[in-house]
Amino acid sequence: MKRFLVKLVLGSFLWPFAQVLSRLLVCLSATPQLLYRLSHSDVIAQLCGRNLFRAPWASDVRLEGKTVLITGANTGIGKEAAADLATRGAKVIMACRDMEKAQVAIKEVKDRSLNENVVCMKLDLADTKSIREFAQAINEGESKLNILINNAGVMVCPYSKTADGFEMQIGVNHMGHFLLTYLLLDLLKRSSPARIVTVSSMAHSWGSINLDDINSERAYDKNKAYAQSKLANVLFTRSLAKRLQGTGVTAYSLHPGVVQTDLWRHLNGPQRFVMKIVSPFTKTSAQGARTTIYCAVEPALDQESGGYYSDCAAANCSAAGKDDELAQKLWELSCRMLNITWD
Ligand SMILES: NC(=O)c1ccc[n+]([C@@H]2O[C@H](COP(=O)([O-])OP(=O)(O)OC[C@H]3O[C@@H](n4cnc5c(N)ncnc54)[C@H](OP(=O)(O)O)[C@@H]3O)[C@@H](O)[C@H]2O)c1
Ligand SMILES: *[C@@H]1O[C@H](CO)[C@@H](O)[C@H](O)[C@H]1NC(C)=O
Ligand SMILES: *[C@@H]1O[C@H](CO)[C@@H](O)[C@H](O)[C@H]1NC(C)=O
Repeated sequence: MKRFLVKLVLGSFLWPFAQVLSRLLVCLSATPQLLYRLSHSDVIAQLCGRNLFRAPWASDVRLEGKTVLITGANTGIGKEAAADLATRGAKVIMACRDMEKAQVAIKEVKDRSLNENVVCMKLDLADTKSIREFAQAINEGESKLNILINNAGVMVCPYSKTADGFEMQIGVNHMGHFLLTYLLLDLLKRSSPARIVTVSSMAHSWGSINLDDINSERAYDKNKAYAQSKLANVLFTRSLAKRLQGTGVTAYSLHPGVVQTDLWRHLNGPQRFVMKIVSPFTKTSAQGARTTIYCAVEPALDQESGGYYSDCAAANCSAAGKDDELAQKLWELSCRMLNITWD
């Protein structure tokens, strides 16, 4: 009896530790890539897209007379980018799917930037009908578009499909922005010099493009589907840059860092636990928006196009991200799925 009690007390005391330990083991075994990265020296810079030893990038570039469009601008990185670019004097169009959230965000952006020239418009990237209506309104209502920021994104959500039957992550993160860019391209060209900035992620380097089952209909791994969509962002930017040579429109993709935003809403217990551990090294939304802003305004990038950036500097994307054959196949597949001709 006494021994049993000792066991019980010890057991209940050790239980939380055992739980933490087992969770940690689950996390570690679930992320061999993370371990691989940990074995490399620049772990913090790699993992969190953050160089603690370099002064943060800053620029006083002004944007009076320029028009900027940001998708998913009601929260997170997109809202911070909107506030910064509005402070520089640009007209900012915040493209959001939820107009109630957008109204709150627009007020904040106006207050912070002291710029009244900020508008929000309805865009649901999970529905090509909404994308087409939105693009038509922009093409009819705006005389120019100088900076397009493809920022909106969903991460590791449960399996679901867009209105057109695309798996949600590839559908919103890639297909939606592919179509949007296509529909706004003439306006961008007429407004040149213009830039197209697409927010990818270092998660692209864990991904591949499943050309035979891009919608994950046969098997869905939410992590792989996110990585696939972010690799698609890198490949799209690369292909786009080639097609835009000589037009004065340039393209950039980027990793914003590991940023504390609503993006983590679908994470499971162990993943949240890992996030807690790395949180001292993660970025705030404002810090996370820096590389987006850098790609949107930095004059040194005027002659660059098609590259991948992290922590306000050029960075190396994965080998798959430089695969031109894969990029071309993805391009053709995207056109077929969207019923568009874009050579
Ligand atoms: N946070 C990070 O650590 C991190 C790391 C790497 C890359 N990124 C990338 O950074 C970008 C911005 O993410 P975030 O961290 O700022 O996340 P966030 O706070 O969740 O913001 C994402 C935005 O996308 C919008 N959105 C989602 N689905 C949409 C749809 N169908 N149509 C239109 N808008 C939609 C969201 O609108 P609602 O508010 O209505 O949902 C929200 O405004 C994403 O592309 C993400 O992949 C983030
Ligand atoms: C990319 O990788 C190559 C080869 O490892 C290296 O020489 C180059 O400096 C890297 N570029 C950047 C921008 O990190
Ligand atoms: C593409 O065309 C097919 C056949 O007409 C149609 O079923 C599908 O809904 C279309 N998809 C989009 C995204 O327009």
